[in-house]
This record gives sequence, structure tokens and C-alpha cells, in this order.
Amino acid sequence: MPVDGRIGCRKLVAADKDDVEEMVTKYFCPNEPLRSALEVVYPGKVDTEFVRKHAEECMSCNSSLMAYNIQTGETAGIILCEVLRYKDDQTMDDEKWKAKFRNRGVTTINAKLFETLNKNLGKVTEGKMCFRIYLATVNPSYGRLGIMSGLVERIELVAKDLGCDFIFMESTSLYTQRIASKLGY
Ligand SMILES: CC(C)(COP(=O)(O)OP(=O)(O)OC[C@H]1O[C@@H](n2cnc3c(N)ncnc32)[C@H](O)[C@@H]1OP(=O)(O)O)[C@@H](O)C(=O)NCCC(=O)NCCS
Repeated sequence: MPVDGRIGCRKLVAADKDDVEEMVTKYFCPNEPLRSALEVVYPGKVDTEFVRKHAEECMSCNSSLMAYNIQTGETAGIILCEVLRYKDDQTMDDEKWKAKFRNRGVTTINAKLFETLNKNLGKVTEGKMCFRIYLATVNPSYGRLGIMSGLVERIELVAKDLGCDFIFMESTSLYTQRIASKLGY
């Protein structure tokens, strides 16, 4: 990573669970644009779900990385990913789910966006192994040092190593969209 050899990078392991939970709760959740909309529908449950789903499930896949401060051991950034296969007929078009959002006065634009993005994924990937970047966050003390860009570049090697034919991410933040586009996504 382009940060003067002060930052190291390694796979996340089960023993990192508490650090990962802290990163997700402290730095990811408050900055996630969709969180406030989801919080209206699932009050008090969203952060727990991010931690349960992303931190616990992703860490069991051996497909996530952390960047850390070599001198202090402090976690500087994490990227949580999952290996999966999409079926041809897989769709996120769940009318009940959308109705629940609508009934509580939440815009379904974001839901529609995800649905459209993911609708034909199975057809495109033809059931091959996919590598999905779920969540990424950097401790603001280490911001703008190229840590997230470096993590995404390295995670591509992990995806290849795990035999994935596709890698993709959904970016809800303009900054991560910029990073993704700079890296050619
Ligand atoms: C967004 C985030 C992951 C960026 O991490 P980072 O390690 O600082 O990113 P990088 O240093 O690799 O930045 C790469 C590019 O992203 C853009 N960028 C990142 N942070 C930015 C900021 N605060 N303001 C403007 N552009 C920014 C820039 O184009 C930057 O390139 P440059 O520094 O050459 O101009 C980090 O700020 C973060 O964790 N934010 C809170 C959580 C979050 O938003 N997660 C994503 C939700 S989908």
C-alpha cells in the first residue's frame, strides 16, 4: 500500500471479531447512506444486522482483509466479502418487502436500484463462483492514504485465489463509487 510501509494487510480471522464489530459500528454504520432509511423500517435492528450479517458471516468465508498499523497493531481498515453463486432465476423482486417499505413511508428507490442491479446476475454469471464485496470501511484517522484502494486491489487477488470468475460491489457512498470507478469497476 502506498503509505510508507506503515500499513500492513492480512486476512481477517475469527480472533478479529471484536475489532471488526467495532469498525462496523463506529465507522461504517454512521456513514452508510441507506442506514437511516432502513432504521425507519427496522428500528434499532439495523446496526446489529450489519454486524451479524457482515462481520460474522463474511469472516467465516476466509475472504476478507484488514489493513493495520504495523507499529501499533491498530486496525486501519476492513473489507468484508463473501463467495457465492447466483442461480439463473434469482431475483430480489419481493413485493411484500417493498410494500413494507412503502407502508412506513420509506422511499423504495434504493430498493429498486438494488433489485435492478441484481435481477439478472444469475443469467450474467451463469451460476459461476462470484466474489461479493459487502462492506468496507476505514478508520478516519487513516483516511485518504490509499488504504481502501489498496484493500480493493488486494481483494481481487483473494477472489482469484478462491477461484471466482466474477467480482462485484454495490457502492452506496460517493467516495467508494469514486474508488470503484478509478479501479475500473
Ligand atoms: C469511503 C472510505 C472507505 C474511503 O477510504 P480511504 O482509505 O480514505 O480511501 P482512499 O484513500 O483509497 O481514497 C481513494 C479515492 O476515494 C475518494 N475519496 C475517499 N475519501 C474521500 C473524501 N473524504 N472526500 C473526497 N473524496 C474521497 C478520492 O477520489 C480518493 O482518491 P484521492 O485521495 O487520490 O483523491 C472511508 O472514508 C470510509 O470508510 N468512510 C466511512 C464508511 C463508508 O462510507 N463506507 C462505504 C459505504 S458504501
